[in-house]
Amino acid sequence: MINFDYRNADSSVIGSENGLDLANEFSQYKDRIREIIADLNKRKDKPGQWLQWMNLGYNEETLWYVKEYASMVRGRFDNVLVLGIGGSALGGLAVTEALLKPYWNLLTPEQRNNFPRIFFLDNIDPDTMNGLFELLDFKKTLVNVITKSGSTAETMSQFMIVKDLLVKAVGEDEYRKHVVATTDKQTGVLRQIAEQEGYKTFVVPDDVGGRFSVFSAVGLLPFALAGIDIDEIMNGIKDMDLALKNTDINENIAAQSALIQFLMDVKKGKNLSVMMPYSSRLRYISDWYVQLWAESLGKCETLQGQHVHVGPTPIKALGATDQHSQIQLYNEGPNDKIITFIRVENFDTQLEIPKIFEYTGIGYLGGKTINALMNAEADSTRVSLSDYARPTVTITLPKIDGYHVAQLIYMLEIQAAIAGELYNINTFNQPGVEQAKNYTYALMGRAGYEDSAKSLQSKLEMITKS
Ligand code: PA5
Repeated sequence: MINFDYRNADSSVIGSENGLDLANEFSQYKDRIREIIADLNKRKDKPGQWLQWMNLGYNEETLWYVKEYASMVRGRFDNVLVLGIGGSALGGLAVTEALLKPYWNLLTPEQRNNFPRIFFLDNIDPDTMNGLFELLDFKKTLVNVITKSGSTAETMSQFMIVKDLLVKAVGEDEYRKHVVATTDKQTGVLRQIAEQEGYKTFVVPDDVGGRFSVFSAVGLLPFALAGIDIDEIMNGIKDMDLALKNTDINENIAAQSALIQFLMDVKKGKNLSVMMPYSSRLRYISDWYVQLWAESLGKCETLQGQHVHVGPTPIKALGATDQHSQIQLYNEGPNDKIITFIRVENFDTQLEIPKIFEYTGIGYLGGKTINALMNAEADSTRVSLSDYARPTVTITLPKIDGYHVAQLIYMLEIQAAIAGELYNINTFNQPGVEQAKNYTYALMGRAGYEDSAKSLQSKLEMITKS
């Protein structure tokens, strides 16, 4: 199992001005945490609670259909192109980057065991889009278009271009076999198109928000297509789910971490939450976490409808790279952050540094491993932050595999759900994101948004320098 260490957030280590008396806080919040965990587990099956993601680890039916489709198309495509944005892309990106061999798309088919290359197009930069389209042979490309709402402008405009390219490459009939759509089971434009055109489809389940959807077909399908062992992922979720059902804060690492993050914000003024893995393979876990934390906790209303503005600001960092940039600020700038380190105990590779240049000042590195260097960097950063009385917590993965990466992600999801309850806000809506989406629809002339378009134009004129 993954491990969570919070000692460097404790007042006994970093002093009472910046640290928390955690034994005391755990005991103060014991009942509240028990109530929150029991309540989440009680509500998770009720429609409208947006907690269905807590059941995804047990969704054998989806697992079966995903495996069946992946094995059916095995060997037919050189490339998988995933179209999606936000919650429909970040989880997939984070997990494939973690679990596929590094530089996967540059490997030969043999090195990839004949599984396809995989590309996530999660933005609409015309240059990068075009660059990728020029690179892909659409005759050998499977397109997985993912959108829960079925109408997100970025994803659907990408899809419209890609559909055209597919038709040009393989013809009006054949192109359908190159598309698999993941969307709502009934509603939305993509569902309508998929039915009209006869695409293979997978479902984004009801009551699963985008940022909590990685273990539905949204993530499982791209993983299986690229040859990732999705059984291992499901086992990781299930074991973590079992551990996190424990209502005792002393035994529940997601509850501990959620409470520390919450109290650091509300009691110690540390409203910046940094996620810093010491592993390049885990770098997009930070991007995924930033969305999870920001969209879930940044809210302007309590559950009782009172007006507030809450939410810690998530920040992504990468060890050891950011030791040479952000750590200066983290050590000596404002003491307003809580940093979560992610460490990897055993990397897949043991990389030795040869004993050369012994006559120089770098001779001490020879005979050591890069692995030891990486973990020494993580330790030294933790200690130096501790010297400056900066709180940190550390999550340790025994290794990077589907089992442990799934545990990490599921733990962070539960952590977000518990933190949302502590902040007393709705963790699962995103009105701020919806507003920006609606404004885009209005500006681009979508039917039904005409009034909004008019008022937007006049607001735009007000805030734009002529
Ligand atoms: O978490 C969310 O709700 C958002 O980030 C969505 O995932 C994102 O806006 C994409 O939405 P959709 O899947 O409807 O295209």
